Amino acid sequence: MKIGIISGSHRNNSESEKVARHVEKALLAQGICDETWLYSLAGNPLPLWDEGIWSGDAQWQETLGPLSAAMHSCDGFVVVSPEWHGMAPSGLKNCLLMWASGGEVAHKPALIVTVSVADGGSFPIAELRMSSYKNNRICYLPEHLIIRYVDTVFNADPDKNKASAQEYFDERLAYCLALLKEYALAFRQIRASGKASLEKYTSGM
Ligand SMILES: Cc1cc2nc3c(=O)[nH]c(=O)nc-3n(C[C@H](O)[C@H](O)[C@H](O)COP(=O)(O)O)c2cc1C
Repeated sequence: MKIGIISGSHRNNSESEKVARHVEKALLAQGICDETWLYSLAGNPLPLWDEGIWSGDAQWQETLGPLSAAMHSCDGFVVVSPEWHGMAPSGLKNCLLMWASGGEVAHKPALIVTVSVADGGSFPIAELRMSSYKNNRICYLPEHLIIRYVDTVFNADPDKNKASAQEYFDERLAYCLALLKEYALAFRQIRASGKASLEKYTSGM
């Protein structure tokens, strides 16, 4: 079992990446998977989508080839998104735009985790659920996590964490990851059935 974690903040040393790294540790510590793949969008590693992707541009193939292989090898994903001006960051949407009929994330479960330094976090959940799955066919779990007041939890120095919030999020994260594993196991069967082929309907409706 391999789970990919995508950290959606463009910022270096972001809170989203802090959470993503914690999720990676929790996945391994909990025995959810034996392998992880963490991809951070810090510093904008992906250029904005252009049509060279469709025409097989060599530069794009060089950029996306290793990412495509890594994503293909994952059974499921955790997508970590900060809330920026009530939105998911454009770099995260751009990243999700890269994958369509290649099937990298198709019919694989994904847990959305959003991050806010205050009371936010619900808008990127709504946005990702509404508009980031149609052609790539990623399957978001109905369960999700909103890490509010993120500066008070998941810090390497436990003295910087609010104990009650940390305990709550540790337990809720463990619940979500255990659920993600069960979905990932079950979804293998869906992909193996051949009924989820992208050959005929390369784009979703
Ligand atoms: C451009 C920008 C816009 C932001 N807008 C919001 C917002 O609408 N709601 C919110 O709760 N936090 C907002 N924040 C603060 C984030 O919650 C905070 O930066 C948090 O650490 C998550 O972002 P990060 O993963 O990039 O660190 C914004 C931050 C940035 C950089």
